[in-house]
Amino acid sequence: MKGVVLAGGTGSRLMPCTKVTNKHLLPVYNKPMIYYPLQTLIDAGIKEILIVSGPGHAGHFLNLLGSGSEFGVKFTYEIQEEAGGIAQALGLAEDFADNEAVAVILGDNVFEDNFKEEIQSFKKGAKIFIKEVPDPHRFGVVELEGDKVIGIEEKPKNPKSNYCVTGLYIYDNEVFDVIKTLKPSERGELEITDVNNHYIDKGKMTAVKVKGFWSDAGTFDSLLRASILVKQKLNKN
Ligand code: DAU
Repeated sequence: MKGVVLAGGTGSRLMPCTKVTNKHLLPVYNKPMIYYPLQTLIDAGIKEILIVSGPGHAGHFLNLLGSGSEFGVKFTYEIQEEAGGIAQALGLAEDFADNEAVAVILGDNVFEDNFKEEIQSFKKGAKIFIKEVPDPHRFGVVELEGDKVIGIEEKPKNPKSNYCVTGLYIYDNEVFDVIKTLKPSERGELEITDVNNHYIDKGKMTAVKVKGFWSDAGTFDSLLRASILVKQKLNKN
């Protein structure tokens, strides 16, 4: 399976740190943020990875990451002209995916787990990875019936569970047709939550609980938290 790292967007919640650089190049403890999602895909055995970034700092990603040979994989780059949403950024991966399934990860997500088995055994439909959190209203929140996800709400005021959707997704190639049917949300973005609800409505979604730590790093608090989690993990080893 091929992999996609989505590193577009404006990083507005980290201003002024993101005024002259890109959010995904800021450090999470001892490495640039984007190293973590890249490593998650690489550790899952993925050899070809597309990095989608905004137009502003695309050269910096290229300078930092190069061809991928340093990581033992191949990197390809794509530009998202405007921050039109996570699903819009994923839509840019259609040619790269070349009729295959894709593992997609958000460039500001830091995971402890190894997802090799989940990614390598994937056949069709879609798979999300969920995590119990104390602040679900910040995320896409799942509604559960037993272990089954019956719906997702993006940043709800009254979350229906404490389980949020993390930024790792696996989709079959139909995802690109689904994205073409989406309409922008109230915040003007093509929402990944709408893609996921489409798969849920068709009965083609499975959800896996994340066991190890997980954090996004898109706000000052979560950026600090991600750094502390990485440092604690390194100190343990
Ligand atoms: O971190 C998990 C959460 O990520 C999920 O629970 C939510 O359902 C999902 O919508 C997303 O929420 P955020 O509000 O945190 O997404 P954010 O706008 O911060 O974007 C996350 C990453 O997605 C960002 O680091 C880069 C990528 N992205 C985002 C946008 C808006 C793009 O590549 N292009 C974009 O246009």
